[in-house]
Amino acid sequence: MTAILEINDLKKTFDNGTPALKGVNLKINKGEFVSILGPSGSGKTTLLRTINGLETSSTGEIYFDNKVIDNNTILEVQKKTGMIFQDFNLVNNLSAINNVLTGLLNSSNKFLSLFYLFKKDQKIEALRSLETVGLLEKSYNRSDELSGGQRQRVGIARAIIKQPLLLLADEPVASLDPKAANLILSLLKKINKEFGTTILCNLHQVDLAKKYSDRLVGLLDGKIIFDEKSENINKSNLEKIYV
Ligand SMILES: Nc1ncnc2c1ncn2[C@@H]1O[C@H](COP(=O)(O)OP(=O)(O)OP(=O)(O)O)[C@@H](O)[C@H]1O
Ligand SMILES: [Mg+2]
Repeated sequence: MTAILEINDLKKTFDNGTPALKGVNLKINKGEFVSILGPSGSGKTTLLRTINGLETSSTGEIYFDNKVIDNNTILEVQKKTGMIFQDFNLVNNLSAINNVLTGLLNSSNKFLSLFYLFKKDQKIEALRSLETVGLLEKSYNRSDELSGGQRQRVGIARAIIKQPLLLLADEPVASLDPKAANLILSLLKKINKEFGTTILCNLHQVDLAKKYSDRLVGLLDGKIIFDEKSENINKSNLEKIYV
């Protein structure tokens, strides 16, 4: 199997001296759906943010698609990676389709609201992404007119419009009820199966993580405590992280 992501002895200490990652080793193969479990403060968000360059590592290496992530490759990594957030990160006064189109902007042109500059085929691509998440009929609704679950579906459509190899999801269902949470995770699973997109997802709900992921990684205090196939996760694994 080919690795899409290989993380070697990754350490991150924030400027204020907080050690958030203390030597993480993790290999993720193309097409896998991996969830990271761990209590608050264990380093889950820091790990995802370091992978897509929102944080810099202190030491260690990350290989994405066999290339080491550094200043020269980070833009390429960001192009091929989609990010999904707990609080959706949508622009409230924009329609669903325009929020999805922002997924095509890179960080340097993100704040220009030049939506009329998007080409017809890009708009069609945005509608296709909204169709994938089952939200085509809400394409022209403002995002603040949508429910939480619908907003997260827009967030997913925005993340998949550039057909990423890897989706990073940071607690994508934390603010949703169980029914909406299941819908969002089954959508991620559908994207994983249909497009072969690799998924790395931070979750707090063990049952949901087991139901949708191929593999579960337990993080505690910046260190990986277990890394097991979902079906092999048992009480003693979980007791090690939820102390
Ligand atoms: N910008 C920052 N500056 C300093 N310390 C930080 C910063 N961001 C996170 N930390 C610290 O790094 C550690 C890991 O935080 P992180 O947000 O990665 O945890 P988490 O597992 O995502 O937690 P949660 O489940 O609450 O989201 C914590 O001790 C946190 O206080
Ligand atoms: Mg977090």
